[in-house]
Amino acid sequence: MESRMKRIAVLTSGGDAPGMNACIRAIVKSADKDKIEVVGILDGFQGLIEGRHIKLNSDAVNNCIHLGGTLLGTARSKAFHTSDGRKEAMLFLKEMAIDALIAIGGDGTFKGLSILSHEMNIPVMGIPGTIDNDIMGTDQTIGFDSCLNTIVQSIDKIRDTASSHHRVFFVEVMGKNSGCVALNAALASGAEDVLIPEEFTNIEQLADHIKYQNKGKRSSIVVVAEGDDAGGAKQILEKVSPLLPEYELRYSVLGHIQRGGSPSAKDRILATRLGDFAVGKLVSGEINKMVGTQSEALIALDIDLGVNSSIDLTSDYRDLLKRMRT
Ligand code: F6P
Repeated sequence: MESRMKRIAVLTSGGDAPGMNACIRAIVKSADKDKIEVVGILDGFQGLIEGRHIKLNSDAVNNCIHLGGTLLGTARSKAFHTSDGRKEAMLFLKEMAIDALIAIGGDGTFKGLSILSHEMNIPVMGIPGTIDNDIMGTDQTIGFDSCLNTIVQSIDKIRDTASSHHRVFFVEVMGKNSGCVALNAALASGAEDVLIPEEFTNIEQLADHIKYQNKGKRSSIVVVAEGDDAGGAKQILEKVSPLLPEYELRYSVLGHIQRGGSPSAKDRILATRLGDFAVGKLVSGEINKMVGTQSEALIALDIDLGVNSSIDLTSDYRDLLKRMRT
């Protein structure tokens, strides 16, 4: 079937995630095969409003599969939240004769795409790219695996110094609204406890648990999601400290190192599969979808599903962590 798509635009939006470049590369290479031009929008929806763009061809995306960050740049655009801003974005897409807009990002990005499709009738396609792994409908988001590996390597190092000094460490990881990163990091690093926004944190219980867990050990690690209801790692340490006078407590905020660095092999493959699949869907006439994987198989779902649903943290992971405690 002949493609009706002649020119598509691609942007990355929200927090950058390792693997975004691999995904841009796959989109461009796939589109090239179908003789579709690709326009790269710089700095997310903000760049779209301002009409800042570059031409993307296969040469432009050579040697980028291993690079962290996003070669297109990204932003959290305030102007895009206004109807005037979105109108500018729509006018630019029309002026450039763009047949569809692909955006790689998290839930905020998907919301932006959904609004563009409903309000301005722009054909869109969303690709889940965020370290948070908090998009409904897909097994994993691009960047989550790399982020998790970075965190686990960091916690392993913290464990070395914590054990040497007989210390309890509170390690803060990203996740304002979702504890997915924290829970997975805790499991993978053998942490003694994890505090996540989805669960109420009781400071007395935490102190008791640390005492119980710490018996016979040289160190304890408590992973704290930044959005926990009792605060970040520093606040938690301050609150629990009076209840643990005999312990040496420290905290560490991993911060943006979690978002940087070269993508893992798993993220590169996921990004390549999703980028290629997204173009394929557009070529076959499917629009206003998000692509993802379910049980490893590629799927395309209504874009609004990724916007309007919230993830339930699987209780088996939580139970597994409890069973791993001694
Ligand atoms: O959405 C990705 C994310 O890294 C979140 O985990 C974190 O809360 C947020 O972005 C931080 O955003 P910024 O880099 O804009 O401070």
